[in-house]
Amino acid sequence: MTRGLRRRLTSYGDQDFSLFLRKAFIKAMGYSDDALDRPIVGITNTYSDYNPCHGNVPQLIEAAKRGVMLAGGMPMVFPTMSIHESFASPTSMYLRNLMAMETEEMVRAQPMDAVILIGGCDKTLPAQVMAAASSEVPAIVLPTGPMDTGNHRGERLGACTDCRRLWAQFRADQIDEAEVAEINGKLASSVGTCTVMGTASTMAALMEAMGLALPMAGSAPATSAERMRLAEETGRAAVAMTQDGLTTAQVLSPAAMRNGLITLQALGGSTNAVVHLAAIYGRLGRKLDMAEFDAIGRQVPVLVDLKPTGQGYMGEFHAAGGVPRLLSELTDLLDLTAPRAFGGTIGDSVAALAPRHEDQIIRPRAKPISTSGAIAVLSGNLAPRGAVIKHAAADPALQRHVGRAVVFDSVEDMTERLDDQSLEIVAEDILVLRNAGPKGAPGMPEAGYIPIPRHLARQGVKDMVRISDARMSGTAFGTIVLHISPEAADGGPLAVVRTGDRIQLDVPNRRLDLLVDAAELSLRMQSMPAARPEPERGYAQLYDRHVTQADDGVDFDFLMGTRHE
Ligand code: FES
Repeated sequence: MTRGLRRRLTSYGDQDFSLFLRKAFIKAMGYSDDALDRPIVGITNTYSDYNPCHGNVPQLIEAAKRGVMLAGGMPMVFPTMSIHESFASPTSMYLRNLMAMETEEMVRAQPMDAVILIGGCDKTLPAQVMAAASSEVPAIVLPTGPMDTGNHRGERLGACTDCRRLWAQFRADQIDEAEVAEINGKLASSVGTCTVMGTASTMAALMEAMGLALPMAGSAPATSAERMRLAEETGRAAVAMTQDGLTTAQVLSPAAMRNGLITLQALGGSTNAVVHLAAIYGRLGRKLDMAEFDAIGRQVPVLVDLKPTGQGYMGEFHAAGGVPRLLSELTDLLDLTAPRAFGGTIGDSVAALAPRHEDQIIRPRAKPISTSGAIAVLSGNLAPRGAVIKHAAADPALQRHVGRAVVFDSVEDMTERLDDQSLEIVAEDILVLRNAGPKGAPGMPEAGYIPIPRHLARQGVKDMVRISDARMSGTAFGTIVLHISPEAADGGPLAVVRTGDRIQLDVPNRRLDLLVDAAELSLRMQSMPAARPEPERGYAQLYDRHVTQADDGVDFDFLMGTRHE
């Protein structure tokens, strides 16, 4: 294969002219022939004024470039999309596939022998790895790293589990407007990703566990000198990868992907990671086996004491040894021979560990946070293709529960009626939200964390069973069933639930059922509400026509399967 600047020449019908022209233009940037003859390492620039989780990207790029040059390579930085959770409307998930497509095509279109993918906020790393899985260019991931914690009146705070907890206290009148405004300035106290085991931290940790990022790159604080040194080391590693490095598809073997599933359960990780892993599986032409994932969850304990399932923050996780320490507790379950993109095996990451010095944040197997994993997979007549619950962050008393359904037809309907004093609802009822899935909302918003109705919150109700076809933030908690598939807007039975129906949740037996007889359910399914009209144009239309359900990763159907050119 041609390398360096000769790679992927622009089509002018004359290859020599194409190279001549390319060199002529790039020399305008002041590069010498020596520089242009080196192996090229592409570096994605996902800096954006709209994305504080990527606020350190300029420094990371400089450090990565230094590493590339120290190792004799030529770094080439190029921009791609950047998505922040709070700045993407309707949702960041709606745009994830667009970022994946853009990244894939820019990596493919431009000459580079390896690529460093710098990302961090929830959807960016998944989008980048989906792109890498579909590309032949060897890739290494450099997460931006978690933000620092803040302090409010002596209490540590970190985005964004504490955002939700304190907002719930504000809704219950336990915090007044002045204090909530004060808290608002302390929740995100530096650039970097959310500092709990939310989606960003989960995905960064999985990158390490699956061999796509350097040891400790999943957890080193965004503002630390160590993060910058890891960036430099990533640059050096990428140069080595320019010489016959493994493709991402080769790194993500079935063994590596299974290692990822095991790590996700042991981390107490985000439910969103299930969707992203399913999408990455899909890119590799495989299907995430939800039954296997659930079986892993029954075998693998939660070992990490971080919010939202536990108490700590990412800084402590890092200090305790991070992902390699966690993996060292799981060696009997993991495939330690799985290769890493930058050489060696996952076993090498574990072998390089310093001795253990504490056992609180990353627990030994003998002292788990919970004996089973973080996430369970449910099925039943309400979820024919499955649903998930983060039972490690749910009220144990509600995990076997029968209740009366109180149905909201959309996110807007929920917003309008949830706090209405005339809404008939008691703590034992089950809140049902539909038309909030991949197609329905659209973009599968993180609306599954349905707030407790205000008058019940004021009575001290802290958790209720809530079910939906939506997602929820990895930083959230509660007895919340998510990702019901198929979604209501795609003909799922969730569409025909009525207020007053009885619903049974049985997490130990992994069931979610609507307690109406089969004949009645069949009758209702035949008179399903009509589908929404298709969007008229553009990305909205492309999205609506091609987005898949949660169990297929909410990817576009035409991007699934292998394509390596
Ligand atoms: Fe970016 Fe939480 S909002 S990681």
